[in-house]
Amino acid sequence: MTDYGVLCAQLTALTEGVENRVTNLANAAALLYFSLPDVNWAGFYLANGETLELGPFAGKPACVKIPFGKGVCGTAAASGKTVTVPDVHLFPGHIACDAASNSEIVVPLLCGGALFGVMDIDSPLTGRFTEEDRAGLEAFAHTLETALFGA
Ligand code: SME
Repeated sequence: MTDYGVLCAQLTALTEGVENRVTNLANAAALLYFSLPDVNWAGFYLANGETLELGPFAGKPACVKIPFGKGVCGTAAASGKTVTVPDVHLFPGHIACDAASNSEIVVPLLCGGALFGVMDIDSPLTGRFTEEDRAGLEAFAHTLETALFGA
């Protein structure tokens, strides 16, 4: 079981005094990838108009652009809400980037109420992400928003 309090504290320590957003997103992706068990991709898609564009990540190369409303990432971007998918093969319109992925969670990142991007995590396990993971990853996203944009 992941201690998300520790993970948020590690993110705060890594990002303290760092202004470059790419640097902070890159370290956040690496932290998630190497701290969470059974994860094969962790990273960010950043909003550019009504399109998500691939940002810093850890894992296999991934699709570069996702329109709002498409796939799991685009669904989270369009709704502004976390989307947890226990089985990606049952999610209509799921965009497969790594054939190893079986479950996925996508958490929106906001800047002053506007969508900045999404945090996307994939797992080879079906049903990998619990309600506890959702709450912990939303807390992680809030910590990251503070690091990127201030309190
Ligand atoms: N599966 C995502 C695409 C991004 S990859 O998982 C890295 C989706 O359906 O939006």
